[in-house]
Amino acid sequence: MIDNRIKAIENFVQSGCVVADIGADHGYLAIELIKSGRAAKVIATEKNLHPFEALSKNISGFNRIEARLGDGLQVLSAGEVDTICIAGMGGALIEKILDDSPEVVKSARQLILQPMNGVKKIRKWLAENDWAIADEDLAEAGGIIYEIICAERNPAPKVFKRETSPLLVKFLAQRVEKLEKVLSEMKKSSEARQSEKFLAIQAEIDELRCLC
Ligand SMILES: C[S@@+](CC[C@H](N)C(=O)[O-])C[C@H]1O[C@@H](n2cnc3c(N)ncnc32)[C@H](O)[C@@H]1O
Repeated sequence: MIDNRIKAIENFVQSGCVVADIGADHGYLAIELIKSGRAAKVIATEKNLHPFEALSKNISGFNRIEARLGDGLQVLSAGEVDTICIAGMGGALIEKILDDSPEVVKSARQLILQPMNGVKKIRKWLAENDWAIADEDLAEAGGIIYEIICAERNPAPKVFKRETSPLLVKFLAQRVEKLEKVLSEMKKSSEARQSEKFLAIQAEIDELRCLC
């Protein structure tokens, strides 16, 4: 099903690109990218056999979508794709997928990442690996607000979609609420209260409150 999250990811894909959709599952993003005419070709990958079978069935009839079974970016060669999309996975897994295939990552022009958690670490990974954030957006689907990051090598400066998103205030309030819950659990343990993590969460809450 094409929802606002998939649409927001699609909107970041530069027209005419060859796209890799890693962990494509049902293949909705790949199909939308071809149906809309935005991508020239999509290589949709899956690590697990069950979703791979569903993916292969869903994309039958789409000549410009190729399904590949395998782990992360390891089923791609360097230079094969312009854009790498990795959506709906935890930040640590996204990082591992990127780290495991440096040559494929280096050869891409655009990374579009939608981590389910660990967004801060993804931003750090991008900075450490010479990627700059070109744009960011928020999208609400099924009552959840997702963060989407688009990274490029030398993007032109611009106001990020996220900054003018009607979802921003709600997103920040939800994030503060979630972090406050974590903090109040941590307060029950004197060890946790004195940890670096406690201070980091407190600092993030203060930072977010300034933005609200
Ligand atoms: C929650 S689904 C997200 C599907 C889709 N990307 C989306 O955003 O709607 C995560 C998918 O990633 C696949 N996956 C997990 N680890 C993977 C890996 N290392 N390489 C490729 N696919 C992986 C899973 O089998 C699953 O189908």
